[in-house]
Amino acid sequence: MTSGAQQALDMIGRVFIEPGGVVLTEEPTYLGAIQAFTFYQVRFVSVKTDREGMLPDDLEKKIKQHKPLFVYVVPDFQNPAGYSWSNERREALIELAQKYDIPVVDDNPYSDLRFSGEKPKSLKAMGGRHVIQLGTFSKLISPGLRIGWIVADPEIAALCERMKQAADLHTNTFTQFVIYEFSKGGGLDRHIEKIKTAYSKRRDTMIEALRANFDDGTTWTEPEGGLFLWVKLPEGKSANDLLMKALENKVAYVPGMYFFSEVPDDTTLRINFCNATEENIKEGVRRLAKVFSEAK
Ligand SMILES: Cc1ncc(COP(=O)(O)O)c(C=O)c1O
Repeated sequence: MTSGAQQALDMIGRVFIEPGGVVLTEEPTYLGAIQAFTFYQVRFVSVKTDREGMLPDDLEKKIKQHKPLFVYVVPDFQNPAGYSWSNERREALIELAQKYDIPVVDDNPYSDLRFSGEKPKSLKAMGGRHVIQLGTFSKLISPGLRIGWIVADPEIAALCERMKQAADLHTNTFTQFVIYEFSKGGGLDRHIEKIKTAYSKRRDTMIEALRANFDDGTTWTEPEGGLFLWVKLPEGKSANDLLMKALENKVAYVPGMYFFSEVPDDTTLRINFCNATEENIKEGVRRLAKVFSEAK
């Protein structure tokens, strides 16, 4: 058990990363992982990624070229892009990890938040000892609880335990009891069903609002779960520059450029659909469209 998945990322960094060593990531990838691994003087190399996951040819090329310490992926409703890896891409990743004996870090906070479609295969179930899986209650109950976990081979788990003891002795037991009481007797399952119903309506509302307000070549992902949509503006517009203007109009997003471990794409942004009412989502998207269309 860890103090959130973020602490698990830090522990993975301490266990695996030697200064100058390479970690392969998706493009884009989770900003918090970039922050955590950067402390250990990692060298990031991003693998070409489309909406089904990493491209296996590019992954193999970069494994051969860089001999990475591990491959870091968020295969389910990725933060930031919202897409999920197809089964074919999952199989290809595991095959390559086994062939070249490289660990895969499967950062997995969102897979239980699936609203529609088929659940894909679990990387951990497919890849066994090659896969280190991270989970968290942050997206299922509340991020303020700070309770996450690592599922790994006993050898790696033992190393993580030593790190964990050195860092903070152990994860808050009181909060773990709170989660246990909340979850037992199906409490967590009922809660997940409730939030999935609410979030899927908000996702639909956001997608409808985007369709209604954007007709300038802007594109976005339409994920089957999770919390985020990933928007790509027409070439020439800077999501980072437009943020101040959006904030003046009381609407916020995260510029996409911060989610790239190598070359940033500033025409991208992440928007969250789980945290606002449907009315606010409609109004927020309308304001965003106005801000972006007025930009030169
Ligand atoms: C992919 C991913 N990993 C890890 C985390 C961190 O989660 P936690 O709140 O459990 O530290 C997040 C939170 O946004 C995330 O999206």
